[in-house]
Amino acid sequence: MAEGRERTAVDLFCGSGAVSAALRRRGFRVLAAVDNDPIACRTYKLNHSKTRLLKQDIQLLNPAKDRRLRSIQSVDLLVVCAPCQPFSSQNQKRRGDPRAALILEAVKFAAELKPSLILFENVSGLAGPGSHELLTELRTRLEAHDYLLGLPRRIDAADLGVPQRRIRCVMIAARTKAALSEFQQANFSAPRSTVREAIADLPALASGERCNRDPLHFARDHRAIVIQRLEHIPHNGGSRADLPKHLQLRCHEGRATSYSDVYGRMCWDQVAPTLTTGCTDVTRGRFAHPDQDRAISLREAALLQTFPKKYKFHGNASEVARQIGNAVPVTMVEAMLPALEKIMDLPS
Ligand SMILES: C[S@@+](CC[C@H](N)C(=O)[O-])C[C@H]1O[C@@H](n2cnc3c(N)ncnc32)[C@H](O)[C@@H]1O
Repeated sequence: MAEGRERTAVDLFCGSGAVSAALRRRGFRVLAAVDNDPIACRTYKLNHSKTRLLKQDIQLLNPAKDRRLRSIQSVDLLVVCAPCQPFSSQNQKRRGDPRAALILEAVKFAAELKPSLILFENVSGLAGPGSHELLTELRTRLEAHDYLLGLPRRIDAADLGVPQRRIRCVMIAARTKAALSEFQQANFSAPRSTVREAIADLPALASGERCNRDPLHFARDHRAIVIQRLEHIPHNGGSRADLPKHLQLRCHEGRATSYSDVYGRMCWDQVAPTLTTGCTDVTRGRFAHPDQDRAISLREAALLQTFPKKYKFHGNASEVARQIGNAVPVTMVEAMLPALEKIMDLPS
């Protein structure tokens, strides 16, 4: 603990609260969180009732004047998980996306809250050449408040004990060069975890079936043709390449390599593919259960994102899938925190 007291954090772009869940597991008190999505905010409140949640557009917040933030005394860690769509290779229209600039909103919080450390997390595109200008702007603005911005590191959540391949860009801002170099050298690793470890103990479900003990563990009601296709996909890692001709999708004819993950099954003893907001739809990626003829359930998706087993979500199925797909894996953040705590304790 920092000088015998509880560590504290503020969670910007908190979404449904995965980062806050990780912080709290490590003993942090999350003093405040910001997000403007009303559905995600309700989920956040259901799980983190003690945190002061500011449900509004971050661009309209003025931390220097806002009573709710001005009362905050001391912050160890400011976490900034700005929207990733502007940096994502999956987004064809990302150039000129005004959401890219939202990351700069972190600076006014740094200026007011003066955290020991700022952690930025985003998709790996944030470390690419297309984001160079924006990062230069972020660096310049942070320097005006005595923070140095470090170089981005690409980290695969699978190397940090998450049962999912999810390559992210993480970087810090801190007051000293020593802090930045400690971050570059930090060995972020944890034993690998698999799909089996995450979801094998959940009750089996047929298409359209619900588990009466868990409202999030239900299977999509697939159309008959979808079930027929799934029945032909070999268990444990099979793909649409295994479909007989009469079950192949017209739009895939002659395209063996593009969209090859569509209708694919996960493998029990490997990590899952990167979960997206379409993670319970077999037509949007390798999101079929390893050996049941259905897409994974929302609970299975949440567990593959390492949300706690009993995490509650607000919203309808597609709203919950969006929150899960947008989340930072809880275990990934948790595994990084010991190294980050060491950096917070360096003299500034
Ligand atoms: C990558 S997600 C954050 C994930 C979250 N940190 C977690 O752990 O689950 C980005 C979040 O930014 C929020 N957001 C987008 N624009 C915003 C704005 N103008 N003001 C506040 N929040 C915003 C979205 O609602 C979304 O929840």
